[in-house]
Amino acid sequence: MEADVVAFDCDDVSLTYSAKSGAPVEALQRVSLRINPRRVTAIIGPSGCGKSTLLLIIRGLLAPSAGRVRFVDAQSGAMASAKPRMATVWQGFNLFPWRTVGENVSFGLEVGGMTHSERAGRARRSLAQVDLSGFESKYPRQLSGGMRQRVGLARALVMEPEVLLLDEPFGALDAQTRLVLQEQLARLVEKSGTTAVLVTHSIEEAILLADTILVMTARPGRIAAEIRVDLPRPRTMATTHLNGYSSLFGQIYGLLRDEVVKAMATEMERA
Ligand SMILES: Nc1ncnc2c1ncn2[C@@H]1O[C@H](COP(=O)(O)OP(=O)(O)OP(=O)(O)O)[C@@H](O)[C@H]1O
Ligand SMILES: [Mg+2]
Repeated sequence: MEADVVAFDCDDVSLTYSAKSGAPVEALQRVSLRINPRRVTAIIGPSGCGKSTLLLIIRGLLAPSAGRVRFVDAQSGAMASAKPRMATVWQGFNLFPWRTVGENVSFGLEVGGMTHSERAGRARRSLAQVDLSGFESKYPRQLSGGMRQRVGLARALVMEPEVLLLDEPFGALDAQTRLVLQEQLARLVEKSGTTAVLVTHSIEEAILLADTILVMTARPGRIAAEIRVDLPRPRTMATTHLNGYSSLFGQIYGLLRDEVVKAMATEMERA
């Protein structure tokens, strides 16, 4: 089976964290969704609603308390014979400070028994994809936050994933750097046709990058709405001036606002 036709389905996925002290935390409640191959799915929702938890479950690093994740042939709906190859850009930078940029990027290839020169070649190519050619021998501390985040992206791209999971990849950046990186990522996913799941707090980022936006409720996270984005590509800052953009933004903001207020109320109760 061609790996690129594998979709994945979450069927009624729930997750409750059992706490050592205090009450268990119900993070996800009966989440059902489909991630389509070669498309970008954005997940947006208030802080603490279970977005990172959902990515951990999709990646297979956390077992759901109930429900399941299935990899299926997107056309026939039959079970896929193999899991797609996945790579993740986790929330925060997570680079090894004692390794050079090139060594950070090629880290994931070392377990595969690839030769040093093959690894270096692949690292160079993925650094070029994020406009960081020539930075191989620098150390993370010598780079700006935006550059470090691009190294994080290159480290995922080097694995040539069929599925790219991104957990707020630009969350910690200043607004201008973020804009530029969003445009770069939009171009990258448009060109490569990789399946991507993007967790974000930003409505703008979701609209610029995604084909489908899943809006989550406050914790326990459920899917409140699934919104298709049909705006033309390539999408750039100019996209934000289209009428279609403003109406989508308004629709998503309307859904999120109530949930964010609910999440804030819960946080205050817990404080
Ligand atoms: N290991 C854990 N044990 C107990 N509770 C946890 C654990 N990990 C997360 N939680 C709680 O589960 C809920 C969902 O967490 P999660 O990190 O998935 O949310 P999130 O939507 O990614 O939040 P953010 O937007 O802040 O990144 C939160 O209330 C969080 O405090
Ligand atoms: Mg998170």
